[in-house]
Amino acid sequence: MSKKKIIIINGPNLNLLGKREPEIYGHQTFEQYFEVLKDKYSDRVDLVYFQSNHEGFLIDKIHEIGFSYDGIVLNAGAFTHTSIALADAIAGVKTPVVEVHISNVHKREEFRHHSYISKNSIGIIIGFGLRGYDFAIQTYL
Ligand code: DQA
Repeated sequence: MSKKKIIIINGPNLNLLGKREPEIYGHQTFEQYFEVLKDKYSDRVDLVYFQSNHEGFLIDKIHEIGFSYDGIVLNAGAFTHTSIALADAIAGVKTPVVEVHISNVHKREEFRHHSYISKNSIGIIIGFGLRGYDFAIQTYL
């Protein structure tokens, strides 16, 4: 059987994982965790990682892979709560999206409670730390 093509897309400030507010987001860098995920699923998944702090670059990437990949695991960071353009990008492509948040956004500030991404996602994984990305990959297998 051919491998699934899955991309993890991280939005703004998630390049700082490991350094950024570790009491909320933990001590591991995403690059370290990505290697763990790649190894774990190497027999079944072609796993790719993309991160950008720029809304337009995230949209361009979704357009680029959104008709050929099997899955998009998306943590849009703060754009989750602001970006109609990202929501439209997800609605406009064929590849299904699983929305991930490392922290439990519902335990945090009110402005984090609304997501523009959720409506166009097949599911949402919130509050399980970096393991949420692992759970999201499993939903495509
Ligand atoms: C986040 C939650 C967002 O509210 C925040 O802006 C982030 C990270 C999370 O993974 O918990 O940057 O998406």
